[in-house]
Amino acid sequence: MGLIDRHAIIEKNATLLLVGSLLVVTVGGIVEIAPLFYLDNTIEKVDGMRPYSPLELAGRNIYVREGCYLCHSQMIRPFRDEVERYGHYSLAAESMYDHPFQWGSKRTGPDLARVGDRYSNTWHVQHLTDPRSVVPESIMPSYAFLKETPIEVKDFSTHLVANRHVGVPYSDDMIAHANADLMAQADPNADTTALLARYPKAKVGDLDGNPQQVTEMDALVAYLQMLGTLVDFKNYDEAAGYR
Ligand code: HEC
Repeated sequence: MGLIDRHAIIEKNATLLLVGSLLVVTVGGIVEIAPLFYLDNTIEKVDGMRPYSPLELAGRNIYVREGCYLCHSQMIRPFRDEVERYGHYSLAAESMYDHPFQWGSKRTGPDLARVGDRYSNTWHVQHLTDPRSVVPESIMPSYAFLKETPIEVKDFSTHLVANRHVGVPYSDDMIAHANADLMAQADPNADTTALLARYPKAKVGDLDGNPQQVTEMDALVAYLQMLGTLVDFKNYDEAAGYR
């Protein structure tokens, strides 16, 4: 009896076919799912990722509050057209401190996962204040009020503590200095040595063009300018042998 004939037995017997299919699906399912029970973490660690600085976290809160995610994604997919436009595709590790994540599902505007360092602070302030003054065809709303709104800090450490509860590794030191770090990051006269030791690569100085006051604009620009800049992809790609 040939293989085809033997297979015909399964095909002609509904119960046998059902049992056989179940068996195949079960084996496939176990192979896919079982390893996940033995892994502590499915996110590959990469150098450079760190918890957000208090000012960046405040900016991120504003990003969520204003619903920027309704028009902007933060996930570059591993396709050539995306990588050529936006840069290296997003790694899982790059959003591991995002609660909730900001991948988004709608791109009315461009992806923002690597917008950091692409424009000057002045460009961002101008764009957020009056998008059409820099991109005439833009349909993005104006967020000029952010520049006039001083950032509200009662006890910003509570935001860090909340994130620590869901797994973001904020240290006691970071929590103790939360308010001071938040103000210092946007203050052109502050000593930011300790801040930068805690949060390497944070963008410090006057971000919104108004050194008198720390505003919501400072926070949002600090956040945008950080996006996609923490992982050094030159090292990553060479180590992984991509280039
Ligand atoms: C109604 C949809 C909409 C909303 C809401 C929106 N944007 Fe945009 N955004 C756009 C569009 C469209 C563009 C492309 C044109 C332009 O540059 O203005 C854009 C462009 C941008 C750019 C420039 C990106 C690049 O790579 O050139 C940034 C940065 C940006 N938006 C940030 C934000 C932030 C921050 C918020 C929330 C405070 C926000 N946007 C809310 C539609 C939106």
